Amino acid sequence: MDKIQEVINLLKDYNQNHIIDLLNELEGTKKQELIDQINQIDFHQIMELYDNTKKETEIKENKIESISYIDKEKIVKEQKEELDSLGQEIIQNGEYAVVTMAGGQGTRLGHTGPKGTFKLDVYGKGKYLFEILIDNLKEANKKYNTTIPWYIMTSKENNKETVQFLEKNNYFGYDKNYVTIFMQSGLPLVDKEGKVLINKDLKIKEASDGNGGTYSSLRASGCLADMKEKGIKWVFIGGVDNVLLKMADVTLIGMAVKKGVQIASKSVVKANPHEKVGVFCKMNGHPKIIEYAELSEKMAEEIDENGELKYGESNIMCHLYTIDAIEKISKETLVYHSAFKKNSYLDKNRKEVIPKEPNSYKFESFIFDAFEFFDEMALLRVKREEEFAPVKNREGVDSPKTAKELYEKYWEKVKGQ
Ligand code: UD1
Repeated sequence: MDKIQEVINLLKDYNQNHIIDLLNELEGTKKQELIDQINQIDFHQIMELYDNTKKETEIKENKIESISYIDKEKIVKEQKEELDSLGQEIIQNGEYAVVTMAGGQGTRLGHTGPKGTFKLDVYGKGKYLFEILIDNLKEANKKYNTTIPWYIMTSKENNKETVQFLEKNNYFGYDKNYVTIFMQSGLPLVDKEGKVLINKDLKIKEASDGNGGTYSSLRASGCLADMKEKGIKWVFIGGVDNVLLKMADVTLIGMAVKKGVQIASKSVVKANPHEKVGVFCKMNGHPKIIEYAELSEKMAEEIDENGELKYGESNIMCHLYTIDAIEKISKETLVYHSAFKKNSYLDKNRKEVIPKEPNSYKFESFIFDAFEFFDEMALLRVKREEEFAPVKNREGVDSPKTAKELYEKYWEKVKGQ
């Protein structure tokens, strides 16, 4: 059977006849590109994910408890010094690497282009989010007399622009030999009837499949092997949009070493019960984060015996792992969460439709769903005003305005010390 017929049969099997029509319209390179894309898509997985959106979520008997943490502010001086020197040793020995997840689209912010290329209006001249991250790494390099290898995860949608931006800005002075950019994978968007959407470029429309893809993409891209070759023992994974993110925190590393755990993370106290942050807890004895969209109202508002929110340790995307933990997770399958969103597409007359209402499912895995593979994790509670100033929304909470204020206030305080 010829290759095209095989592809057509596959599309028929999965009820994607509209893609057969598209295929018949195309010629030459465009046709070949679509065939290559179809061959790379796991339609069985996509249809399974689509079918899951129709099922009632299985209610399991889960035992949910709050999680224990160490408050950075309350660690006594001698202990903190011990943790810090443990962490410092790891960085100085060249055993530490940083990964930035920059594959997201930043749609809520309304910025066109990769989120890291957004310029925050700080100190008159302004600073790009990537530049702020680089400043933080450069500061650590200076302090610990090293150059930390930095891996940036992009997606199909924003890889080219990210590379061009960083090249154009000469990596804001970071040694290029220590920067590796790798791409995460994507999954097709599926409409209410289970049909994949058609993109403007006459291919199947895909979107990045969530930051849970970081682990497998680190392995598939060869970055994990590269880290191992470099002798990396600890890997930090953080987001792109927190302008107070500390990517080389020796206390966090020291705490993980001292506790003998494979994973660690940081939290801040939740600002209010309905703040849009994931919260740490323990489920059936394993560490877990419940994402804001999936947290029940009851859990969000539950108060403990001290009058604090029972699930108030909020995720600020500061995750630390041993290299072995990354390797182990990269071979596991994470669950996919589905979100019903607005996504433009080409209709059968190949006219672009920009929907006003949600029209399609996007499937995403979450980085923290991997925590459940472990029995223990270490959690460090830090001060919000020192470590969390996210840029998420165009206006209001977590906007460029609030991030600017927090950033400038923090640096005024540091300079004044
Ligand atoms: C995220 C956290 C949430 C946390 C909040 C704090 C997840 C799933 N959610 O929510 O628990 O409280 O930040 O600010 O981690 N990304 C990719 N590829 C993707 C999707 C996202 O690299 O396919 C990156 C983004 O570029 C960003 C980070 O992951 O750096 C978080 O992405 P986003 O989907 O915006 O999560 P939030 O809703 O902000």
